Amino acid sequence: MNNFTFYNPTKIIFGKGELKKLDSLVPKNARVLVLYGGGSVKKFGTLDTVLEELKKSKRDIFEFSGIEPNPKFETLMKAVEICRKENITFLLAVGGGSVMDGTKFVSIAVSATEFVGREKELVYTGHNGITLKSALPIGTIVTLPATGSEMNSGGVITLGKDKLAISNPLTFPLFSILDPTLTYTLPSTQVANGIIDTFIHTIEQYVTYPVHATFQDRTSEGILKTMIEIGKETIDNPTNYDLRANLVWNSSMALNGLIGAGVPQDWSIHLLGHELTAVFGIDHAKTLAIVLPSLWRVRIKEKEAKLAQYAQRVWHITEGTTREKALKAIQKTEEFFNSLGISTKLSDYGVTEHQINEVVQGLIRHNFTNISETGDLTPEVAKEIYLKSL
Ligand code: NZQ
Ligand code: ZN
Repeated sequence: MNNFTFYNPTKIIFGKGELKKLDSLVPKNARVLVLYGGGSVKKFGTLDTVLEELKKSKRDIFEFSGIEPNPKFETLMKAVEICRKENITFLLAVGGGSVMDGTKFVSIAVSATEFVGREKELVYTGHNGITLKSALPIGTIVTLPATGSEMNSGGVITLGKDKLAISNPLTFPLFSILDPTLTYTLPSTQVANGIIDTFIHTIEQYVTYPVHATFQDRTSEGILKTMIEIGKETIDNPTNYDLRANLVWNSSMALNGLIGAGVPQDWSIHLLGHELTAVFGIDHAKTLAIVLPSLWRVRIKEKEAKLAQYAQRVWHITEGTTREKALKAIQKTEEFFNSLGISTKLSDYGVTEHQINEVVQGLIRHNFTNISETGDLTPEVAKEIYLKSL
């Protein structure tokens, strides 16, 4: 096992009806900005409950709506202006990954006072972690289980055709309320996205090379098996509490630092996927489902040992050579994604061969030229992966 530091300060409040604890979690005299997306929280009543709770104490409450999927820098800067003008002291994100990520950017941009007027630099250098003395505190209320943003310090922001990660240790949410019933209203394609995102967060920290990290491996296998067991069922039975509760908790655990501590991590599937979202606007999780099978087929030699372990322990494939087991597991994984209604072929999203160069150029522009768990995935290899996924 590799050396590691594990740190996760986010308090989780989990369960049916737990939104009623909101008043006790947000400082009583805060000037709160409630941030949300395109209106689902209004339509389904979550926002009303949030406001009712906040009004139980003497707080000044402001709202910011319209954070779009794959949150845009320009939209978020409008929220930054409100924070500056109204002296906001607490940010409350109500929504999915895009709202939570966008809120993290707002927190950083308001707090990094030396970047006033040049906030774009926070997106371009944000993955290096800007040094902040303090940051506006964040609470989240999760309506879409997928990204793990409610329990980590990262976010992904879109600026034109650049979709880039930001992170800062001060943007771990102070608390996150996870009430699975708030996710019942999700369209089935978003639930499928959540299952696939959770699955592939786990994969990025598990299908690398072995380092004898038993706890991390067994826990990852538990998350993967849970997604396979409950995935289709929770899409078909959206109001079954136990199924949905398991999706919600697994998605937080897949990307809160726990299974990634002390093991090699890849994240190539995500980096290749982000370029597809930036150029074609394909949903985040769908890009991952497109990239994973072809990336594994192209890089089967590098990943063979862990793929065979995955085949055996997750899919119960016991026959054949290591290579045969690995290939069978790739096929099973692709069939699993397809069974959730998600296509794994780039051509099904209208993309053609002559558009691949633009995507590869994006990777080069963003300096992702030596990615993967060993740094050996070059733009040439990325091109082969994209072409194979057509
Ligand atoms: O905007 P509204 O009207 O709220 O509708 C949203 C949105 O259209 C809708 N929705 C959310 N909760 C709902 C609901 N509809 C009905 N009922 C509900 N309860 O769902 C749509 C998608 O929302 P979004 O937040 O964009 O989805 P997701 O949670 O999948 O987040 C995707 C974003 O997270 C980033 C992605 O790159 C992408 O930008 N990621 C963040 C990560 C992190 N912070 O650690 C890691 C991930 O790998 C990922 O990259
Ligand atoms: Zn993801």
